[in-house]
Amino acid sequence: MSLRLILPLGLSVLVLTACGQKNAGSQAPGGSAPITESEAPPPTPAQAKAMVAALPAPWNAGDPELGKATFARCRACHTTTQGGPDTVGPNLWGLFGRDAGAKPGYAYSDALKNAGYKWDAEHLDKWLTDPRSYRPGTKMMFVGLRDAKDRADVIAYLKTATEVPPK
Ligand code: HEC
Repeated sequence: MSLRLILPLGLSVLVLTACGQKNAGSQAPGGSAPITESEAPPPTPAQAKAMVAALPAPWNAGDPELGKATFARCRACHTTTQGGPDTVGPNLWGLFGRDAGAKPGYAYSDALKNAGYKWDAEHLDKWLTDPRSYRPGTKMMFVGLRDAKDRADVIAYLKTATEVPPK
């Protein structure tokens, strides 16, 4: 193999390795143990279907695959994987059934800390329509998803991406 071929190959291997270690070296608040990203395996299509079907109507009609594509707009600020890092916004693993503004280690605004409800499809739908009107003072700088179908799809995706699939 010529050098011109070897070099780009070597570079792409380097880049791939670096991406796989997005969390290496990050420290838990307080200092000692590194955060390990223990990614739960994604649900099978059948499990995903069951998870979405368990949502109340109309959100049980959401399409998690379409929602995954729409969630590209959220990924700039959120991870969804188990043990994933908080970035601009909090990591969303374990979202359903969790008190709003209550993930340990993330500095929420008072608007979210004092929301006084647990996240479910209905609250997520209102929140994602227009976060800044729903929780005035929130620091989530996102204009909102005005299309109900987009919201249902994203909520379906979140359901499948933020908890362990049922056995
Ligand atoms: C520009 C960055 C940004 C974008 C884009 C964004 N978010 Fe957020 N999100 C935040 C921040 C910051 C917070 C914390 C808000 C606060 O404390 O007021 C947050 C909070 C949340 C919460 C509440 C979490 C909790 O633990 O209570 C949910 C749910 C959420 N975002 C979902 C989404 C979804 C779904 C999208 C895409 C449709 C999205 N966000 C897009 C920054 C963002």
